[in-house]
Amino acid sequence: MKKELFTIDYTRIPRAEFDDELRILEQSAEQAALKAYAPYSRFNVGAALLMDNGEIVVGSNQENAAYPSGICAERTAIYYAGAHFPDVGIKKLVLVAITEGRRVEEISPCGACRQVIMESSMRHHAYPVYMVGVDSAIVLDDCRFLLPFGFDGKDLPQTS
Ligand code: THU
Repeated sequence: MKKELFTIDYTRIPRAEFDDELRILEQSAEQAALKAYAPYSRFNVGAALLMDNGEIVVGSNQENAAYPSGICAERTAIYYAGAHFPDVGIKKLVLVAITEGRRVEEISPCGACRQVIMESSMRHHAYPVYMVGVDSAIVLDDCRFLLPFGFDGKDLPQTS
C-alpha cells in the first residue's frame, strides 16, 4: 500500500493586478449575470468564454419552476460555444456571481459544470478558469484540476 498525493496549485490575483483582458471578460460575465433568469435562487451567475478565435461567448444561469430543468451559467456558455463554434477551442473561462445586488466572493463551478468543463477541454485543449470575486480572482491554470479523478469517458467502448 502506498499513499499518493494529488496537489493543485492556483494563483490569486489582487484586483489591482487584473490585466485589460481580464477586466473586459469580467465585465462581459457581469453583464451576462445581470441577464440571468434566477427568480428561484436569486443568485445570478455569469460566465464569459474567450474563444481561440477572439470571440467572447457569455452565458448566465437559466432557472425553471421544475428546478432540475434549470441550467448553470457555465453550461449555458459552453453549450452555446459548442453549438456556434464547434471547431474552436476555449482560451479562458471567467466567472462572476451577484446576489442581493452585490458581487459575491469567488464563485466556484458545481460538480455537473466541472464535468462539462472537463469534456470541453478534451475536445480541444485545456484552459484556465478565473473565479473572480470582489477583491481578487482565483485562477486555476488547467480547468481539469477542477475535477480530480474525473470521469473522462476514455474507458467507454469504442464506436467505429
Ligand atoms: N449556478 C451557476 O450558474 N453556476 C455555478 O457555478 C453555481 C450555481 C446557479 C445554479 C442556480 O441557478 C443558482 O446558481 C443557485 O444554485
